[in-house]
Amino acid sequence: MLAQAADNEKGLKRTLGAGNLVALGIGAIIGAGLFVRTAAAAGQAAGPAVTLSFVIAAIGCAFAGLCYAEFAAMIPIAGSAYAYSYVTMGELIAWIIGWALIMEYALGAATVSIAWSEYLNTLLGGAIPYEWSHSPFESFTDSAGVLHQGILNAPALIILLLLTLLLIKGTQESAMVNAVIVFIKVAIVLVFIAVGWQFINPANHTPYMIPEGTAPFTDSAGKVIADYSGVFKHGWGGVLGGAAIVFFAFIGFDAVSTAAQEAKNPARDMPIGILGSLAVCTILYILFGHVLTGVSPWQDFVDPVKGREASVAYAISTYMPGYGWLATAVTIAILAGFSSVILVMLMGQSRIFYTMSNDGLIPKAFGDLHPKYKTPYKANWILFVFVGAFAAFVPGHVAGDLTSFGTLFAFVLVSAGVWLLRKKEPEIKRPFRTPAVGFVSTMGVLVCTGMIIALDRQTLTVAFVWMIIGLIIYFAYSRKRSKLRNFADVLPTADDFEKRSL
Ligand code: ALA
Repeated sequence: MLAQAADNEKGLKRTLGAGNLVALGIGAIIGAGLFVRTAAAAGQAAGPAVTLSFVIAAIGCAFAGLCYAEFAAMIPIAGSAYAYSYVTMGELIAWIIGWALIMEYALGAATVSIAWSEYLNTLLGGAIPYEWSHSPFESFTDSAGVLHQGILNAPALIILLLLTLLLIKGTQESAMVNAVIVFIKVAIVLVFIAVGWQFINPANHTPYMIPEGTAPFTDSAGKVIADYSGVFKHGWGGVLGGAAIVFFAFIGFDAVSTAAQEAKNPARDMPIGILGSLAVCTILYILFGHVLTGVSPWQDFVDPVKGREASVAYAISTYMPGYGWLATAVTIAILAGFSSVILVMLMGQSRIFYTMSNDGLIPKAFGDLHPKYKTPYKANWILFVFVGAFAAFVPGHVAGDLTSFGTLFAFVLVSAGVWLLRKKEPEIKRPFRTPAVGFVSTMGVLVCTGMIIALDRQTLTVAFVWMIIGLIIYFAYSRKRSKLRNFADVLPTADDFEKRSL
């Protein structure tokens, strides 16, 4: 894998520095998780204690992030967790993880494009009909009693198409667009925190968690849309349930590692990119959650006619008089911000496909580079069709929860893998070493497994079916075509790693 990656003529280009990588991280991290799911977590499980949910999710990510940093600096090739497990745990586990990563990146992109559509509609004052901006599995009864049934989410499809075209054009161009967007979105988060702070109503923060026995929330047609009786729906359990929901907001720091093959100095820059972007975002998130639930009562975030959709814009225009302009500015920044998340997710997924295809596990077309732009353009197009189908026809929260599952699953395996490889191959040069590896790796596994368990049953069932489909494809197709199986004798050994001092 390292030899292949070193082949600059045929392979991806090394164009990204440490600054680009932190920007890439923040580009992928701040998005729908913050602007949509903070309110969802507060409304459905955690109440104002969504700040504590952020702390828990951040702890899980920090453990996993430290492990990612060791791998990304040591094995600086495209493919992220897939590539690490290929090296440490063999092909089958790598396949499983690659398959789970599709849930993370492809469905992550779909989720954010759905959120993009929500905010676009807010910006346009609801001009896009409900039917053409929601999946067929969603419906809504308006105040006049008319039932609206979703058909497909057209804006989500359009943004995916535009970003696919940009990605095909080139990594550097994409990185540049990303950097501009990151600047705008961080600025707007800071402005919201600073201005919103003055509008915090302490009554909204009491009680801090959703109390046991809170009555379910019903819509105007009498349908229950939030039920607080479950273990993970109130009190401390709700904080954990909230962590599983807002965990989505942290997804993306690991996307930095998918670009390892395009980093100029991966040994130094990968840990900076991964841990730096994670740290910046954690601080912003806790402050943001504090302000949002202080400005607006969390109950509003459940109500479809109040702040269930486009919650941040809602909170500003309803509870921050005189700041209408901020609601518009936030919405525009959010739209730009979501675009960068989608961009990095799509890029990450195409790089994972690229590596899996080089290993022979998926068709060769996924690894073909564009003759001029040197980007895996066929993978980008196939991805567009797949992600587009989800974005158009699946509700956002379903795609979002599956994204969290795929990511958490990857985190568990990366956390375990780092320790495993320390034991198996202690001599390999590691430019970055995870501190207290036994502790960090065990905690990474435990905290992330805890969040998987806190996801709802429906998500876990769908994820399980997805994984089974993956295994069927592996045994029916990939195993026979695997390069590892067919060309094991020509692959580099641990000694080759040493000689190359990688
Ligand atoms: N962390 C990314 C977001 O929140 C996926 O949109």
